[in-house]
Amino acid sequence: MSATDLPQRLQEANANDQFRRRWSPRSMTAAPLAQSDLEQLFEAARWSPSCFNSQPWRFVYAHRDTPVWETMLANLMDVNRAWAKNAGALIAVISRSTYSHNDADAPMHAFDTGSAWMSLALQAQHQGLVTHAMRGFMLADMEAALAVRAPYSIQAMIAVGHQGAAEQLSEPLREREQPSPRLSIAEIAFAGRMPEE
Ligand SMILES: Cc1cc2nc3c(=O)[nH]c(=O)nc-3n(C[C@H](O)[C@H](O)[C@H](O)COP(=O)(O)O)c2cc1C
Repeated sequence: MSATDLPQRLQEANANDQFRRRWSPRSMTAAPLAQSDLEQLFEAARWSPSCFNSQPWRFVYAHRDTPVWETMLANLMDVNRAWAKNAGALIAVISRSTYSHNDADAPMHAFDTGSAWMSLALQAQHQGLVTHAMRGFMLADMEAALAVRAPYSIQAMIAVGHQGAAEQLSEPLREREQPSPRLSIAEIAFAGRMPEE
């Protein structure tokens, strides 16, 4: 049985299976990625929709065992570095908070960049890769190291790689290495108006 067939990960309605099957493993094999692997991910991301087609997403990436990779790893929190060191690449997902055509505030920028990340994650799955987003990193240090300056900011770091066996992880990560549950449709979708909390 696949991990995504666990009881907590069953479908309530018949959507495309790619959504239910995507999850965020921590165990990766330390195999490198090809440059073309990453370009396929960015190709998927660049077709995402955005307010005024402003395309606020940017990506700074590093293949494993390169100088920038070491810098990115060093700026992750310990709890993430412990497993992300076995990714094939790390990607900073960056968003521009102003419109490039007039420099006015772009209040939807993070919404737009979030959709680009999801396209990237699903494309990775299509390529037989796994992705794991992280907010556990030193934001100011990471931005300084990667030359990310206002109006740009890092929204998340992404570890991309080939999935490894859960047994490679040490506890307590090994125990947590399984797909997580979700709220039911009835808890997130409402006809006409929001329910009382
Ligand atoms: C913006 C964002 C930040 C996250 N930060 C971390 C993190 O720092 N460390 C970690 O292990 N997982 C992190 N995650 C992974 C989430 O915990 C995970 O996506 C969520 O529990 C749902 O599980 P699934 O992706 O396996 O379906 C993050 C996910 C997102 C989208």
